[in-house]
Amino acid sequence: MSAHILSGKPVADQLLDALRPQVEVFDPKLVIVQVGNDPASTSYITQKFKSCDRVGMRHEHWHLQWDTSFDQLSSLIDKLNRDSDVSGFIVQLPLPAHLEPHTPQLIRAVDPRKDVDGFGAYNLGKMFLSVDFEHLPPATPSGVIELLNFYKIPIEGKHAVIVGRSNIVGKPLAVMLLNRGATVTVCHSKTKALSHFTRQADILCAAVGKAHMITKDMVKPGAVVIDIGVSRIDGKLVGDVDFENIKEIASAITPVPGGVGPMTVACLLRNCVRSKEKQLEKCP
Ligand code: GUN
Repeated sequence: MSAHILSGKPVADQLLDALRPQVEVFDPKLVIVQVGNDPASTSYITQKFKSCDRVGMRHEHWHLQWDTSFDQLSSLIDKLNRDSDVSGFIVQLPLPAHLEPHTPQLIRAVDPRKDVDGFGAYNLGKMFLSVDFEHLPPATPSGVIELLNFYKIPIEGKHAVIVGRSNIVGKPLAVMLLNRGATVTVCHSKTKALSHFTRQADILCAAVGKAHMITKDMVKPGAVVIDIGVSRIDGKLVGDVDFENIKEIASAITPVPGGVGPMTVACLLRNCVRSKEKQLEKCP
C-alpha cells in the first residue's frame, strides 16, 4: 500500500481563490511585526506576503531591531490596536531571547478583534464553546481541519493523537478535533511510552519540530498522518515524520514542505478578512 499524498497546495489555492472577491469588498490590511532576523520567521513572512499579493490584500511589515525592548514592542502593539486602517496584525514568533518570556503578556495586549493569529485568550476561549464560535482560530490547526475536510477524511468518532502541546498548534488543534467529534489524546515531551499512544491513532498529528521523530513502528497501518513540524537538515525543510517509510503503511500522509504549510498561510489571510468584515459590521 502507498499512502494518498495530502498536498496542501490545491487546498490552499482553492481557499485563496475564494478569498479574493472578499478581499476586494472588505479591503483588509494585514500587519506583521517581526523582531530580529530569525531566518525561518523571515521565510514564513515572505510566504505570507506573497499570498497577500496573490489575493490583493494590503500588507505592511514592521521589522524591528532584535534588541527592541518590551516597552517599545508594547507601544507598537498599542499603536496597531488603535489604528483603524489595520484590520489584523500578528507578532511573528519566536521572539528574541530577552522578549520570549514575555510572549504571553504581549499576545494578551493584542486587541481580540485584530488577533488574526487567534492566540489571545478571548479567541482561544471562544473555540472551547463549539465549532460555531471558532471565529478567529489559530491558522495552523485551522489549516489541518481544512485539509482533512478537502480530502474527505472523516473526523467524527476517530481517535486523533496529537504529539505536541504548544499553545499555537497542539492545544488548539485538540479543541478543534474535539469540537468535530474526535476522541483526542495529546502527547508531549513528558509522555511515557509515546508509541503506545501513537500506534492507536486513526489520525496522527505531529507538531513537535523534531526531524523524523515519528518512525514507521509508531504508526498504525492505514492511519492518516498529518505532519505539522518543520525543521531544517542541511538547509532542507523536513517534517516530524519519517515520510519515506511511513508512506508505505499510512492510508494518507502530508508532505513537508507543501502539506500543512500553505494551509497555515491561507487560513491566516482568511482570519484577516473575517476580522475586517466584523469591524465593518460594528462601525457602519
Ligand atoms: N511562528 C510560527 N508559526 C507562527 C504563527 O502561526 N504565528 C506567529 N505569529 N508566529 C509563528
